[in-house]
Amino acid sequence: MSLIKLSPSRNASVALITAPLIIPVIYMAFLTYNISRSTKFSNGTQYPKGGPQRLVQRHEENENVMPGKPTSLPDDVRSEDSDWVLAYERVASVPVPLRSLALSHTSTLSCSPSPLLRAYTSGAHVAFASTPQAILIRTLVDTETKHTFETNWIQNIQFEPGDIVNGVYKVSYCGKGSETGSERIELMIQAPPSYKGPVPNGLILSEIVLVEGAPAESLPGDSAGDGHVIFINETWMWRKESEKPTLVESKVSGWMHRLMAGWLIKKGISTVSL
Ligand SMILES: *[C@@H]1O[C@H](CO)[C@@H](O)[C@H](O)[C@H]1NC(C)=O
Ligand SMILES: *[C@@H]1O[C@H](CO)[C@@H](O)[C@H](O)[C@H]1NC(C)=O
Repeated sequence: MSLIKLSPSRNASVALITAPLIIPVIYMAFLTYNISRSTKFSNGTQYPKGGPQRLVQRHEENENVMPGKPTSLPDDVRSEDSDWVLAYERVASVPVPLRSLALSHTSTLSCSPSPLLRAYTSGAHVAFASTPQAILIRTLVDTETKHTFETNWIQNIQFEPGDIVNGVYKVSYCGKGSETGSERIELMIQAPPSYKGPVPNGLILSEIVLVEGAPAESLPGDSAGDGHVIFINETWMWRKESEKPTLVESKVSGWMHRLMAGWLIKKGISTVSL
């Protein structure tokens, strides 16, 4: 005997109200599952020396060190006795066989990204341009900067130092990464001249790492002996200890950001696949 009897019509309207919510939840669950199968995640925060904790890290990868610090990190943030709190988030793809990729990973010039890295990075940035976050940033910038969100623009820039993409990302380095066989593009978060709001301190980097042979974690079906490439997206943010935690340190926004980075890596890989 139930106290509240729901009429069939009431049930139907409940279903109608909850349905639009349920669909995105199922989609999110699928996306999370799919991304967690094909990417690996690690993050960490380094606190100023002398504090109670120096380095707090969380890893899903079998690594217990911080990745090499980006080349374009400001000197006072990079230094060992820095008084900045430095946080990073690293999302990396499982190894992708070279023979499934459409482009070459070798570049002839010293600071000109290889066709593979350039196309992967621009593929991810084109995908990013359609996210709510990018749409929001786009409303905050001047008309001239708005064109840096256009697919045509993103596909045509070389990703050389000074190039701007999606309004607030300015290429600050391209060349070797910290691992052997790696190549990367670093982009600093920089406010366009017209924007007066608060700007977080941060940079993002896109990297490819070439691995010889078939690594243990490669997907079933790969034949041993094939070269592989790992596609990476890292976000580095820094703040003073008194300031509120950065995006990548916070639980909910960190989780959302990680999911988005995983999705962007997959979009980037699909751009360069045969
Ligand atoms: C990395 O993530 C940022 C968002 O933090 C995004 O703008 C960028 O396009 C991504 N790049 C790659 C190569 O995945
Ligand atoms: C790692 O990211 C999670 C959110 O995904 C966050 O709750 C946690 O504080 C982060 N850890 C560090 C050490 O920044």
